[in-house]
Amino acid sequence: MRLSVIGCGYVGLVTGACLAEAGHDVMCTDIDAARIAQLNAGGVPIYEEHLEEVLASARKAGRISYTTDTGEAIRFGDAIFICVGTPPREDGSADLSAIDHVAQQIAGEARSSKLVVEKSTVPARTGIELRRALSAYSRGGNISFSVVSNPEFLREGTAVFDFFHPDRIVIGVDDESAAQKMREIYGPILEHKFRCPVHKGPCPAEPKTEFLVTTINSAELIKHASNSFLALKISYANVVADLCEKLDGNVEQVTHAMGLDPRIGGQFLKAGLGFGGFCFPKDIQAFIQLASTVGVDFEILKAAERVNKERIDRFLGKVNKALWVVKGKRIAVLGLAFKANTDDIRFAPAIDVIKRLLEEGAQVHASDPEAVEKTKKVLPTVTFHADPYETVRDAHAALVCTEWAAFKNLDWERAGKLMARKLVVDGRNLYSPKKMADLGFEYYSFGRS
Ligand code: UDX
Repeated sequence: MRLSVIGCGYVGLVTGACLAEAGHDVMCTDIDAARIAQLNAGGVPIYEEHLEEVLASARKAGRISYTTDTGEAIRFGDAIFICVGTPPREDGSADLSAIDHVAQQIAGEARSSKLVVEKSTVPARTGIELRRALSAYSRGGNISFSVVSNPEFLREGTAVFDFFHPDRIVIGVDDESAAQKMREIYGPILEHKFRCPVHKGPCPAEPKTEFLVTTINSAELIKHASNSFLALKISYANVVADLCEKLDGNVEQVTHAMGLDPRIGGQFLKAGLGFGGFCFPKDIQAFIQLASTVGVDFEILKAAERVNKERIDRFLGKVNKALWVVKGKRIAVLGLAFKANTDDIRFAPAIDVIKRLLEEGAQVHASDPEAVEKTKKVLPTVTFHADPYETVRDAHAALVCTEWAAFKNLDWERAGKLMARKLVVDGRNLYSPKKMADLGFEYYSFGRS
């Protein structure tokens, strides 16, 4: 099928490339001419595993193209995937102006009926408003627009895997024919008729992907409810960690045992510095905001957000307690990205930690396998190193902020010899307290005495 993708940010890039690799003809557009130029020159503007290869394969097959001409892209596709940003506004609600702008463009440029697919994360009722806007902006012309909500559940770092191996594909529609067209679009994924860029050989057997058809409002709610619940799980584990510190428990063992109960599930119970990234923090706020507009006080999410914000204070509390005086100390920070396997530092806890250390007069040396270039722009006074061992050299403390494998496998015997003081404060519970103690380290982490 001929598909258009409007917005080549993270979601649009992955969606466009993977749909092309799945066999569709895809034309992508973005208002950022430099980004389109980079893509047309064969570049990939983000670090995401397997994306470069998927794009190269789709390009070679001539199934993907990039243009700055939004009209051309709109006229190209039978279905148009809206993947523009919906950043948070002051009050936490989602800014939908980019979606509205795209609606005006679609109504103005379309020359045939279109399926308009909402891929951006939006609050419930957006699709209904989008449909109303499209008909208003097309002044009752004879072109019809069928709106679909199709939330994505891609995780940064595993997005290509998540696209080709989804747990579920959620479709919010008004009419069966739209659902049918969406089933056609996702047909290659559902029938496993694609060359998997992740598994070189046959893909491992896995539960069948559920193709879930519901209303537009419910589909939009599913996205916010899912992300908010995952964030809630993390904050719950973090409060349990605080309890473990007070009651001499071990949060890793507690959450492991909890997770053995399939009603709870073991994922997203990892205590530590808390959640960051461009999804959880803003989706929680948008969901709380949405709820308040209909008189629902989402207290439980407000608590999860508060718990998450306090992680930085608790972490710095450990650093201050261990160092006594932070001013003038040389501190190594291992990890800048909001999580491993991405170069994304949006709402990354490490950035807040460093800002606070700098305010207290510390000298900060930092390292991250992928996120240094992006961090240099926001924290120019930090000294960056590619090599984690150079980062900890002469340091009075090493702080672990991101769970990269490179840090998990660090040789602390070697690192300890380079440090001014063998002190590690671990914000991601990467190491065994016993092993670190045996190596002669003062070692602090979350929820493990
Ligand atoms: C998330 C959702 O997982 C994805 O489905 C959605 O489409 C977009 O938002 P992402 O933001 O890429 O994806 O990151 P995710 O892997 O979910 O991690 C979010 C944050 O939670 C990270 O900061 C991570 O470090 C933290 N986290 C995750 C924990 O602190 N503990 C955990 O157990 C899991």
